Amino acid sequence: MRRLLEDEEAQDVGKEVIAVRRITGTAIGRRPRASVATVKRSKFNQATGATSSGLPSGARFHEEIAAAWTAGYARGGFARRLHFFQPILARHVRPGDSWVDLGCGSGVLTKELLALGASVVAVDGSPRMLAHAREQMSSEYAGQVNWIHSDVQSVDALKNGAFDGVLCSSVVEYLDRPDALLKEVARILGPGGVLVISLPPTFSAVRVFQKGIRGLMRCFGRDRFTYLSVSRLQMSPRAIDRLLQEAGFSVIRSTGFDPILPRALLRLVRPSLLIVEARKLDRS
Ligand SMILES: C[S@@+](CC[C@H](N)C(=O)[O-])C[C@H]1O[C@@H](n2cnc3c(N)ncnc32)[C@H](O)[C@@H]1O
Repeated sequence: MRRLLEDEEAQDVGKEVIAVRRITGTAIGRRPRASVATVKRSKFNQATGATSSGLPSGARFHEEIAAAWTAGYARGGFARRLHFFQPILARHVRPGDSWVDLGCGSGVLTKELLALGASVVAVDGSPRMLAHAREQMSSEYAGQVNWIHSDVQSVDALKNGAFDGVLCSSVVEYLDRPDALLKEVARILGPGGVLVISLPPTFSAVRVFQKGIRGLMRCFGRDRFTYLSVSRLQMSPRAIDRLLQEAGFSVIRSTGFDPILPRALLRLVRPSLLIVEARKLDRS
């Protein structure tokens, strides 16, 4: 029997502790049982880039927009992004799998994993995002999803090699150390486990345009596309592949997605997002 979360995390209850739900359950492929447990806030603060509020900058930014996050998926570019993800996830998620949604936000993609029959540990650094995700989660999935408030770069509560898959959608760009994140993903995935990760490539046409507008507007004391102040990391497709290989993954497929530009144009310019599917190599 293999547990999915570490026991030790439950021991320290007091001022420095925040409540999360945790899995006390069993091996990969079996439904875990959920119960309430704790994670030390001090561990959370070890994050690279943690702010004075104790939250990593990307999580703190999303505190302010958490309430509107799910509604944003109802139409436009976010709705298209959701539809784009659905077949990708369907290719990899099997009923009974255990998945982690790293940087789950308000849980929109967590629901997709659950609908495909996986049990999910959903992790985010923004308490408000997590609160909305829990609130909006349908009761049919109670017992199949567990929430952890943590920096995604170091989720001590998750056990080594315990998961079949990890989803990390639009989170890496808020981090300073993508290699630290991939090391953590490699630690928690079992051999042959799948990672679905999305991030902006360098020279994304829409980002270049938005940055230009942002620079211009700032000359007039106006702030536009504020997310660009915290969403800073971009990598070339080749650098992403190399980083994944160094972290012990083989890339299965890499697909460009843009919420604004027509698909035909993506042959000429870089999209806003690259969605990479990768498999952890068995090095045992
Ligand atoms: C752009 S949102 C994406 C949310 C979700 N994955 C989606 O696709 O709808 C980025 C999320 O990452 C979280 N985040 C950013 N940096 C983080 C960090 N270092 N640790 C934990 N969560 C972080 C934010 O709180 C936010 O919920």
